[in-house]
Amino acid sequence: MEGFRLFPERASAYAGEVDHLFLFLIGMAVFFVGLITCAIFYFSVRYRRSLGRRSGEEHTSVALEVLWTAVPLATVLFVFVWSARLYFAASTAPGEGMEFLVTGKQWMWKVQHPTGQREINALHVPLGRTILLTMTSEDVIHSFYLPVFRVKRDVLPGQYSRVWFKADRTGTFHLFCAEYCGAKHSAMVGSVVVMEPEAYERWLGGATAGASPVEEGALLFESLRCVSCHAAGSGQRGPDLAGRFGGTAVLDDGRSVPFDESYVRTSILDPRHDLAAGYQPLMPTYAGQVNEIEVLELVAFLKSLAPAEAQEQAR
Ligand code: CUA
Repeated sequence: MEGFRLFPERASAYAGEVDHLFLFLIGMAVFFVGLITCAIFYFSVRYRRSLGRRSGEEHTSVALEVLWTAVPLATVLFVFVWSARLYFAASTAPGEGMEFLVTGKQWMWKVQHPTGQREINALHVPLGRTILLTMTSEDVIHSFYLPVFRVKRDVLPGQYSRVWFKADRTGTFHLFCAEYCGAKHSAMVGSVVVMEPEAYERWLGGATAGASPVEEGALLFESLRCVSCHAAGSGQRGPDLAGRFGGTAVLDDGRSVPFDESYVRTSILDPRHDLAAGYQPLMPTYAGQVNEIEVLELVAFLKSLAPAEAQEQAR
């Protein structure tokens, strides 16, 4: 029993909040199991056959019916509101954070830092900063699980999942895949290393730095020849993409969709799916030519293109 712990370690304030909810649920379950067990024993003794006592004719009590409907309902709604708030809190980062890209792949986790460093099955982060993860899968469904921060999100092919955490102590903690994803699912593990900010800076310096996601995206935008149709200016074969991210895209069939990560991804991999209004379906698919990290880099690049108004003001 050496090192046995009832709860995993905690390394964020959020982890404590999740534990409070969990303890409340356990406490409530224990309370009602106890109450019901006692009632069963009490009634089975009090109305036992040998005494010839029967509960007699049926009584109905509206007050009682209302009570045992209303109390569980109120309790369950209370738990629902509490846990839904926590769940949404895990998806919505408070304010600005450092954006990391994560892809799951049979059977490893690939991570890219905001400054371009890449690592596999490891995630080095600084203490006290909000860490935002944008995650997707190259193949099947995985689940990114950091017990010490009490965060777990399914990572699905073809869409982006988001989660954030903010470490409040340094150390090396477990990273798991929490969704059965094939023969080596159990080997799809890694570690998250929380470091003092200065130590993190030093680590970044020592790691083989690549270009940042934005720079990589810009290079891809050139090398894939996206620029030949999506360059600035009118009369191009494809829409100008500068400053579009975060806005809305009007489609050929009249729909309006948010110009977000998913829209960009779909447009790269299946260009005819969400064809922009006023353009011919000329763009070829880039499925097979770019992997999910590269798609995310292109997204990062488009995100970085300042809105046109801001650029004009700068001139
Ligand atoms: Cu990936 Cu289990």
